Amino acid sequence: MLLQLKNVSKWVQSGGQRVFLLKDINFWVNEGDFISIMGPSGSGKSTLLNGIGMLDAFSAGEYAFLDQPVHTIKEKQRAKLYKEHIGFVFQSYHLIDELTVKENLEMPLLYKKYKSSQIKALVADTLDRFNIVGKKDLFPSQLSGGQQQLVGIARALIASPKLILADEPTGNLNSKQGEEIMETFTQLNKVGVTIIQVTHSEKNMAYGSRVINLLDGHIV
Ligand SMILES: Nc1ncnc2c1ncn2[C@@H]1O[C@H](COP(=O)(O)OP(=O)(O)O)[C@@H](O)[C@H]1O
Ligand SMILES: [Mg+2]
Repeated sequence: MLLQLKNVSKWVQSGGQRVFLLKDINFWVNEGDFISIMGPSGSGKSTLLNGIGMLDAFSAGEYAFLDQPVHTIKEKQRAKLYKEHIGFVFQSYHLIDELTVKENLEMPLLYKKYKSSQIKALVADTLDRFNIVGKKDLFPSQLSGGQQQLVGIARALIASPKLILADEPTGNLNSKQGEEIMETFTQLNKVGVTIIQVTHSEKNMAYGSRVINLLDGHIV
């Protein structure tokens, strides 16, 4: 098992009251799974993905990732876990504005302490694979939304994570680019990479092998 959530909830305080964004979520993910999270806007999909990606802590419940209790370990250990094993594709890109495309791609590799020759080679391969060689010295603000999304996806995949979390990864891509990304995910999944995608698209859902439907913060 790669990860397991037990009775996980997430709430925010508002006017002295708890507003639940997620309530009593239970599920597990095996290595090699390809899961689609679906549900209407506001149902908690991004909140769940952010929790799994350790970007935001759940308010209650237990979260185990590779047998480590994410809900109790120290921040430093948690950061090590996600930097080492998780690639995150964000809905709103989250590229670093002050860095070029090439430098954005280098970031996950620097965390993983690759040698500079390996970094050079991996960045060159990745630029090539995503057809963005010509963009390497541009800053995110000089790219279209679709191009930024491609860079975000490239950055999530470059350091060969065990788990890819993708929040509506093809939302800003044209249909051909979208299909290419889904094919890339399929290829990675075939060699054992675990994928959890949030999607509104039945077509993208069909690439996965299991669906989790969320409604008002519950699994239905
Ligand atoms: N930090 C927050 N404070 C208050 N409400 C939030 C916060 N983050 C998300 N929400 C609310 O929680 C609900 C779920 O949000 P989200 O996980 O982004 O849904 P989805 O990704 O399914 O559209 C929404 O109603 C959203 O407005
Ligand atoms: Mg969302």
